[in-house]
Amino acid sequence: MEVKVVSNSEAGSQLAYEMIRHALEDGAEVFGLATGSTPERVYQLLSESDVDFSQSISVNLDEYVGLPADHPQSYHHYMQKKLFNAKPFKHSFIPNGMNTEAEEIENYNQILEENPVDLQLLGIGTNGHIAFNEPGTPFDILTHKVELTESTIQANKRYFESEADVPRYAYSMGLASIMKADKIILLAFGESKAQAIKDLVTAQAVDPLIPSTVLINHPDVTIIADEAAAKLI
Ligand code: PGA
Repeated sequence: MEVKVVSNSEAGSQLAYEMIRHALEDGAEVFGLATGSTPERVYQLLSESDVDFSQSISVNLDEYVGLPADHPQSYHHYMQKKLFNAKPFKHSFIPNGMNTEAEEIENYNQILEENPVDLQLLGIGTNGHIAFNEPGTPFDILTHKVELTESTIQANKRYFESEADVPRYAYSMGLASIMKADKIILLAFGESKAQAIKDLVTAQAVDPLIPSTVLINHPDVTIIADEAAAKLI
C-alpha cells in the first residue's frame, strides 16, 4: 500500500486525475467509479480535459435501493451530472436500485465478471466503509444489499431534504468485488477522515469491523490523503 500525502484536496484531486489519465494511456479499459463529495473535483478535472472515455467502460460501486435513475439523489444522476454528460463512456454500469435484490445481485455480478476493473477509484467513510460495505461486512462477499448504518445515514442526509428521505438500503459491490480490481486509488480529504486513514494505514491484519482493512492484502493500492486526513499517521 502506497500512501501519498498531499497538501490539500486540490493537489490530491490533480494527482488522482493524472493517475487516471495515465492508466487510460497505458491501456486501461474498465474504470471503477465512486460517488460522494470526495471524487467530485477529479470528475471536474476529467470533464474539463481532453481525456476521451468513448471507448472505455465504467462500473460504479453502488446505488440506493428504491431510487430510480432520474431521482436527483440517485448515483445514476450524480454520475450523469458530474462526469458522463461531459465525458460519455462506451458503456456505463451502475447498480439498478429499482431491481429486486435477487435480480440485481445476479445482474451486477455478471456485469463485473464480464468487465473486470482495471482501475478502481474509492472514497472512504468516517467509519472505514468502502463503497457501502459497512463494518461487519464479510470480506468474501460480492454484490449485496446493504442496510446503511446510522453514521452513513447521518453523513449522507446533507444531500436530502430530511433525514427521513435518506434511503435505508443500497446495492453495493462487495469487498471481494472491489479486491478484484487490478489497481486501486483511495482518496481521503479532510479531518473527518483522519481516524479512518489511521485505522487503515496502521492495520497489521484485516479487521471485519474496519472494512477498508481488506485493502492491506491488495497488491496495488495507492492512498491519496491530504494533510488533514493524514494528520494521525
Ligand atoms: P464522501 O463519502 O466522499 O462524501 O466523504 C465517502 C464514502 O462514504 O465512501
